[in-house]
Amino acid sequence: MARKIMVTSGKGGVGKTTVCCNLAVQLARRGLRVIVCDLDFGLNNVDVLFGMENLANYDLIDVVEGNCRARQALVKHPRYSTLYTLTSNRIPESCVSPQAVKLVLETLSPQFDFILLDCPAGVGAGFRRAAACAEEAILVTTPHISAMRDADRVAGLLQSYRFSSVGLVVNLVRKEMARRGEVLSTEDIAAALHLPILAVIPEDEKFYLDNISERSRAFHILADCLTVEKEEKRGIFATWGRKR
Ligand SMILES: Nc1ncnc2c1ncn2[C@@H]1O[C@H](COP(=O)(O)OP(=O)(O)OP(=O)(O)O)[C@@H](O)[C@H]1O
Ligand SMILES: [Mg+2]
Repeated sequence: MARKIMVTSGKGGVGKTTVCCNLAVQLARRGLRVIVCDLDFGLNNVDVLFGMENLANYDLIDVVEGNCRARQALVKHPRYSTLYTLTSNRIPESCVSPQAVKLVLETLSPQFDFILLDCPAGVGAGFRRAAACAEEAILVTTPHISAMRDADRVAGLLQSYRFSSVGLVVNLVRKEMARRGEVLSTEDIAAALHLPILAVIPEDEKFYLDNISERSRAFHILADCLTVEKEEKRGIFATWGRKR
């Protein structure tokens, strides 16, 4: 059965979709079977980041509405043969319940290793749909004070769900500013949000220009963190996997 991990944030634009897609690439490069499921209905971006726009005949909403089978809505990445997208290209006419999305993902789950759920920002319907499906959560924030404040609210809410693991990814970190102490250190961020840090992603124009950076060390570390057996984990990663 696939591990279902929601990738969420309080503030918009902090890098959830970038994290989802780059993590998926690193997992697929390890031969793991991955779906990136876009839960940002109508504002979907996963297909854009992967350069796979207009390739899907059906989307998640079609599956929920019974227009096709779950497998038919998956689109294989042209480069990574074990990586698939499940998009959500439109705003559904009637409400899509968390249970309906859960049912679709459970149908696909036995044939995959990971299902990454790219959420819209905040704690609205998209958050609730993802939280109903996922067993694990990654909270993405930047070191900026506004993102931190919103992340704190989401971290509090995540605690009320029974996730087996909740971890933090700090994105858009400017190394020089961190070195000069001009922004919060990653240790301060982890302590403030009471969550273990899984990865620290530097601000890098490669992501801005190409969206995917196969060679990114930070995403390599993040994929290791999710796949390496617990006893092999060291230092800061040791707390991933703890029950909250
Ligand atoms: N580490 C990074 N370095 C440079 N640019 C980045 C980085 N992470 C994300 N970006 C850029 O920031 C912008 C927002 O990223 P992204 O779309 O992943 O955020 P998001 O949290 O999914 O946004 P939304 O809340 O709208 O869904 C994009 O232009 C992306 O290329
Ligand atoms: Mg996004």
